[in-house]
Amino acid sequence: MKRWDEVDRYISDTLVQPDAALAAALEASDAAGLPAISVSPAHGKLLSLLARTVGAKRILEIGTLGGYSAIWLARGLAPGGRLITLEALEKHAAVARANLERARLADRVEIRVGKALDTLPQLARPFDLTFIDADKQNNAEYFRWALKLSRPGSLIIVDNVVRDGAVIDARSRDAAVQGVRRLYELIAAEPRVAATAVQTVGVKGYDGFAIALVVK
Ligand code: SAH
Ligand code: DHB
Ligand code: MG
Repeated sequence: MKRWDEVDRYISDTLVQPDAALAAALEASDAAGLPAISVSPAHGKLLSLLARTVGAKRILEIGTLGGYSAIWLARGLAPGGRLITLEALEKHAAVARANLERARLADRVEIRVGKALDTLPQLARPFDLTFIDADKQNNAEYFRWALKLSRPGSLIIVDNVVRDGAVIDARSRDAAVQGVRRLYELIAAEPRVAATAVQTVGVKGYDGFAIALVVK
């Protein structure tokens, strides 16, 4: 076991309150055979805190899985706020729907089933926060959509932008790695955002997320 796993558990045990709905969401996801790739508890809480920081009334998520990060994000919504989360697979959406109901968030969260590139064009009004966490090869396209669906002050967060450090391998033949690299290039060349990325270690291994603030 890596030291950072233990430290991550220490952080979660100390600062992240035990929560029946979140625990049940992970159990139900596992029981349904979904992959164990939800954000960690500490990072879920970070998403929630960022939503609160920007006073988010409208949140967009791309990549629902079992709804674990959606629960964290929805809990960070301002009163009366709503979360729309996009998921390609009905099987995942069904698990997420049950998990969100159990968390008593179904009234604030809408799951749209279909490939995100097909469902994104149906969205019109800007979002205060977008969390991109679906198929990594489409990251750049998702970021373009997130930007289109933003206003100055909106936050765009992208998960898994380090990938065990594989991100610096320019000749990688991994489509996910190339997708993440295209995302970095797009962000670097985009004058409408101010952005950085944070490397993370913990129970999900060595990875990271990018944070972009839409400035104009
Ligand atoms: N955000 C979740 C984890 C998402 S895992 C959490 O932290 O709890 C990535 C999800 O994206 C999977 O459920 C996968 O089915 C979905 N996905 C993959 N390709 C997609 C696409 N083209 N459109 C929408 N969702 C997609
Ligand atoms: C994978 C996807 C994720 O969104 C994640 O957080 C971890 C792993 C994956 O596809 O392997
Ligand atoms: Mg992820």
